[in-house]
Amino acid sequence: MEIVERINKLKKEKNAIILAHNYQPEEIQRIADFIGDSLELCIKAKETDADIILFCGVDFMAETAKILNKDKKVLMPEIKDTECPMAHQLPPEVIENAKKGHPDAKVVIYVNTLASAKALADATCTSANADKIVNSFEENEILFGPDQNLGYYVSKKTDKKIIGMPEDGHCYVHKKFTADDVINIKKQYPNADVLVHPECNPEVQDLADYVLSTGGILRHVLSSDKEEFIIGTECDMITRLKIELEKVGKTKKLIPLRKDAICDPMKQMTLEKVEKCLIEEKYEITLDDEVIEKAKKAIEYMLNVK
Ligand code: 13P
Ligand code: SF4
Repeated sequence: MEIVERINKLKKEKNAIILAHNYQPEEIQRIADFIGDSLELCIKAKETDADIILFCGVDFMAETAKILNKDKKVLMPEIKDTECPMAHQLPPEVIENAKKGHPDAKVVIYVNTLASAKALADATCTSANADKIVNSFEENEILFGPDQNLGYYVSKKTDKKIIGMPEDGHCYVHKKFTADDVINIKKQYPNADVLVHPECNPEVQDLADYVLSTGGILRHVLSSDKEEFIIGTECDMITRLKIELEKVGKTKKLIPLRKDAICDPMKQMTLEKVEKCLIEEKYEITLDDEVIEKAKKAIEYMLNVK
């Protein structure tokens, strides 16, 4: 039997679901039951009636699935080198200190954070809903982190004061994109839409045609009449776009804004590891009950904002 068939058989036997982020390698995207952006994955993790959630992504995403499914088994095929560096830039102490300096502020943190940080937040947000979440509060001051480029994006869509924590929080992949990259590629492909993620630097966001979450990029490419798109986010987003275009029998020209925009922690999953994970049921994500309860409130606040 081929490995894909064996994985599908194991999945059925164990009532398992495979969730994968848009930045996963092609072989993983092709066997996943659901592929999505961070928000879509949160919603799917909350809705599933599977007994086992096998998560192909980075650490904070699998933790989020566990927070929303305390009594289910959440597994990652690999846990070594799967940490999102940005999520580790906002340890709980930084939030506690920031709160002391701004006692009246609400705390909105990116879902790209550890469970222990989420436990201290009023709400989480993703790049798909950050402005909506910030604007849902009555308070005028918002402590926001870790990504300061997402903070810049939000600050353009709100009158509230966005206070960054930490001041230099960023994603090492999206930080690579420069204004020159956009200027040069626009000259090469003048008819293309430039789509960039809000984790990109402010000058890159300002030069782009659209600033969108990975789910937003997918919807834009699928619904647009245009034929050419510059993709300013992690390179395997193009894999996701190709898979979805294939399903509707379309082809479009998809050009990476940079070929070296690769998130190493996202590339640790393989089909062999997925099969082993389903057989051995490890690595299991475990979290402290109290952390789960508190972090869940912040995530559910986000999921309830319409
Ligand atoms: P999305 O929520 O847009 O998928 O982004 C997640 C992420 O980690 C981007 O680097
Ligand atoms: Fe983290 Fe950046 Fe990778 Fe997204 S692309 S998972 S923010 S390191």
